Amino acid sequence: MTVRAVRVLGCADVVVHDGLVPDAILDLAPAGARRISVAKRKSRHTYAQEEINRLLVGLALEGLSVVRLKGGDPFIFGRGGEELEACREAGISCEVVPGVTAALAASASAGAPLTHRQVAQAVTFVTGHAAGEGEPDLDWAALARPNHTVVVYMGASTAGRIASRLVAAGRAPSTPALVGFRASRPDELRVTTRLADLAAAAAVDAGPALLVIGEAMESALASVPEAPVIQPIAREERA
Ligand SMILES: C[S@@+](CC[C@H](N)C(=O)[O-])C[C@H]1O[C@@H](n2cnc3c(N)ncnc32)[C@H](O)[C@@H]1O
Repeated sequence: MTVRAVRVLGCADVVVHDGLVPDAILDLAPAGARRISVAKRKSRHTYAQEEINRLLVGLALEGLSVVRLKGGDPFIFGRGGEELEACREAGISCEVVPGVTAALAASASAGAPLTHRQVAQAVTFVTGHAAGEGEPDLDWAALARPNHTVVVYMGASTAGRIASRLVAAGRAPSTPALVGFRASRPDELRVTTRLADLAAAAAVDAGPALLVIGEAMESALASVPEAPVIQPIAREERA
């Protein structure tokens, strides 16, 4: 979180937050502030985006100071843009406070830079989640270019298909990759692998995960970080 985020939380009348927000962060709001979780739940009611928008607008129109607390950065695969539009349409003035997106957290804790002068001149954030059925509509030829880091959000369950597409488009199967689960949390888990074995690496855990693929991840393979690191046995070693 930024210092600005801590300051605005400290002035909130209401905090509308996603799941997985630690109590230590919610406690930065005044003791009397209302806390409303709009987390996705498996069994109980799940808030539709429209409902969240209406909730935010309704609370703000009551004259309350509303903090919408989201994981990472609100504008990176966070639907912050939709919520902002709904508030603007209702004539509510808003301030957007940036956050540390999961890609930055995962790369920092692995000690593996997303860009590197010699081996990664670009980084691209993509979603592994298709809007409709099937796989995401991505420019595989562009993503397969060497010396380029590809970060896939919401891609753990489609890791096998993503790896196959990248390899078919020309990315080397030996390209280093990192799967970062629960990056920056105390129970963070990092799995280092190669593109050819990405699916197996992504299957070792079910927490929120990022796939980070690219030559610059070689340093994640080489590092000795504090979080538990699993290095699945490569195919040729298993054979
Ligand atoms: C809806 S997106 C929200 C991203 C968020 N706005 C951000 O900037 O990090 C949720 C996805 O982000 C990734 N993610 C979020 N937090 C994560 C974490 N701590 N570690 C690894 N991946 C995470 C996962 O791919 C997860 O499925």
